[in-house]
Amino acid sequence: MFEVLPQLAPDPILGLSAAYREDTNPNKIDLGVGVYKDEQGNTPILSSVAKAQTVLLEKETSKTYITPQGNQGFIDGMLSLLLGNASKAMLANRVAAVQAPGGCGALRILSELLVRCNENGKVWVSDPTWANHIPLIGSAGLKIETYPYFDKASASIRFDAMMETLRTVEKGDIVLLHGCCHNPTGADLTKAQWDEILEVAKEREFLPFIDVAYLGFGEGLDEDAYGMRLLVENLPEVIIAASCSKNFGLYRERVGLAAIVTQDTATRNIAQSQIQSIARGIYSMPPSYGGALVDIILSDDALYNEWVGEVDEMRNRMKSLRAMLVQNLHDNGATKDFSFVNEQKGMFSFLCITPEQVREIRAKHSVYFVDSSRVNIAGINQNNVEALAKALVSVL
Ligand code: LMR
Repeated sequence: MFEVLPQLAPDPILGLSAAYREDTNPNKIDLGVGVYKDEQGNTPILSSVAKAQTVLLEKETSKTYITPQGNQGFIDGMLSLLLGNASKAMLANRVAAVQAPGGCGALRILSELLVRCNENGKVWVSDPTWANHIPLIGSAGLKIETYPYFDKASASIRFDAMMETLRTVEKGDIVLLHGCCHNPTGADLTKAQWDEILEVAKEREFLPFIDVAYLGFGEGLDEDAYGMRLLVENLPEVIIAASCSKNFGLYRERVGLAAIVTQDTATRNIAQSQIQSIARGIYSMPPSYGGALVDIILSDDALYNEWVGEVDEMRNRMKSLRAMLVQNLHDNGATKDFSFVNEQKGMFSFLCITPEQVREIRAKHSVYFVDSSRVNIAGINQNNVEALAKALVSVL
């Protein structure tokens, strides 16, 4: 039966990890998949998470099923983290939500919900966007269009062109926005630009679909939530897919949240019943473990403060790695000005070189990053930065 199917190419991001593992060059450098790494190149379990694991081991008394909506403590804690404790939408009981298997699971649940609302639904995504957005959202049955976002030549956001396209979007269309730390470009909207997006969302009556996978990695947990909170507090409907993979370091535990801000409580109840039935129809209920850990951290002041400190440390280290890369590129004679890397936010930078140059660096120097020129900043360290800079300079 299966021979009729075509052999597929490796995933553009996850496939890089496999290629990196197979490379025998002892000086290989992995800047591919978006995972945080320390100076030794390890992805350790956060200390707050390790402590929460001990608490969970003590308090968990059963492995019976949880419900399709997941852990309610996790859901409430995450909504406060994302929307703030004073969120009008939350206080008015206008937000439906389920714990999801990772940010991907959240994106998929919400996409399925959008298809249930309108099987001809259209989602506008940034050009470029995360490589998995289009297959993930598109295979739920939604049509995909793109809006201009980033100009490689000037390494900056094409805000005027983006707004021009958003002004043509039709009522009921969906516009996917990265809450912070845009993946793949690291180029984030300013507060003033978010304010303008709110105005065009009101004018065109499109539905903002916010993907927030790197909260805290840009400027801080509250600072990074600015655009999302602005839209949630000022629009009748917004949907949010959040991930705990990066900021809690819970990658393999698959922890995320799908949230739907609705116009009133009656609609919230409808949306809640729908997303629970979608979850039941795909995987029944999310894995319990990671959500339980996040619940423990968010509901304990000491653990919460420790976790915030760890997020700050990861963010500040990534900022210093950006500066180190820019300096090394300069010191090694780069003919291109890479100072824009210092302005980009979060885990990724878009180096604005061609796919041919990326592949040449991979083939000649065993430096692995996505063809688009996206690098995982957290994969840089004191030991590899000079080799990286020299490899980049060699293809300019
Ligand atoms: C990434 O963009 O590298 C991460 O979000 C991991 C993934 O699943 O692609």
